[in-house]
Amino acid sequence: MAREQWGTKLGFMLAAMGSAVGLGNIWRFSFVAGNNGGGAFLLLYLGCVFLIGIPLLLTEVSIGRKAKSDVVGSYQKLAPKTPWFFTGFFGIFSAFLILSFYAVVAGWSLYYFFHYITGDFFQAPGEGGFGAVFGGFISQGWQPLFWTALFMAMVIFIVVSGVKRGIETANKIFMPLLALLLIVLAVFSLSLDGAMEGLKFLFQPDWSAFSKPSIYVQALGELFSLSLGMGALLTYGSYLSDDKKLPGAAIGIGLMDTFFAVISGLVIFPAVFAFSIDPSSGPPLVFITLPTIFEQMPLGGIVGLIFFFALSLAALSSAISILEVPTAYFMRLFNWTRKKSSITVGSIMFFLGIFVSLGFGVWSGVTPIGDRNILDSMDYIASNILLPLGGLSMALFVGWYFRKSTALKAVDLKDDLFGGVWYGIVKFIVPVVILIIFVSSL
Ligand code: TRP
Repeated sequence: MAREQWGTKLGFMLAAMGSAVGLGNIWRFSFVAGNNGGGAFLLLYLGCVFLIGIPLLLTEVSIGRKAKSDVVGSYQKLAPKTPWFFTGFFGIFSAFLILSFYAVVAGWSLYYFFHYITGDFFQAPGEGGFGAVFGGFISQGWQPLFWTALFMAMVIFIVVSGVKRGIETANKIFMPLLALLLIVLAVFSLSLDGAMEGLKFLFQPDWSAFSKPSIYVQALGELFSLSLGMGALLTYGSYLSDDKKLPGAAIGIGLMDTFFAVISGLVIFPAVFAFSIDPSSGPPLVFITLPTIFEQMPLGGIVGLIFFFALSLAALSSAISILEVPTAYFMRLFNWTRKKSSITVGSIMFFLGIFVSLGFGVWSGVTPIGDRNILDSMDYIASNILLPLGGLSMALFVGWYFRKSTALKAVDLKDDLFGGVWYGIVKFIVPVVILIIFVSSL
């Protein structure tokens, strides 16, 4: 059977943006920015996107497009009888870990969305406000698992429908819709009295932040939320034909990811400051602080409904790219159909997700790594170890295993200034920088 392909280059770009833009952009980026020098951090991050993110993105997509195979198969094809294919196993492993916890958090988002549809959450139900609602919900056994299962079922359904008919079609609808919803929310949030404080938190540059080493580590770490290092972009690249040029697409994807991160900040922080609430990071911000604010603002119920719809869309478009990584691998390895492969992989991930979910309830005392609960431990192994190693290995592969002319041809660049800069970055700068993040995060 012929290998599947994207219908259009735009379809590929939207799918890759869908992969990159996820829960990470909405609940992490703007907070990290605000706490690490605001506008100064944004500038630094943009520098990192151009210097490291986009070159690495281009590298990862090009490996897939050249080999036209999955994460493991691509290395076996391009470098037969060498151990480079281990890079692919880092990717497969990260995909299993990441989607197992991602689906649990996405399930929470669906639960909130559902309760905004019914109107239950227009006001915090019961004593203790949304803190009690959230804490009570995630610590239960079956309830959160039902929503995780529902989310996984949607992800599997899209992946089963195929690259063009499923993944591409879904992203062509989701991404423009997500942009529209977030822009509407941002305009509304900026119109609140006191919104200026939020803008200050996000944008006012604190240049002294540049003197703290942690800001660089944070900015570089944030890069991996571009979906780099896991093989999602490699696998998506493998469905591209050779006549589709890569550099423009890579720049577009990198810039749009940053755009979505900033616009999420414009939704969240003006509202947080307008209601004089101390911003916190991570799940409590999204599932406790924001609903509490929505409760107090005019039209807050509708705002909450749109917000959790947008959050669920962002999670879904990322999740399908993560499921596709092992799905494509098992299809080739065992000669399985797309249906059999994605249902099997998705079910295993759901099974792992049960542990993650129970880690907030009966197993909240289980802390595999340091004082991290099950979710944080899995995130730590994936984000701090496997993804950096995967990214490092990809850069070394293209920079050192390929000849320069092969590498340039793979990414559609010539041996001119532009091509030379990209090559130098991938060969020297990316490996050094990733090693620095890696060592400093351990
Ligand atoms: N890009 C998505 C996000 O930012 C998914 C993702 C990619 C991810 N790499 C990750 C999520 C590492 C958590 C950790 O949400």
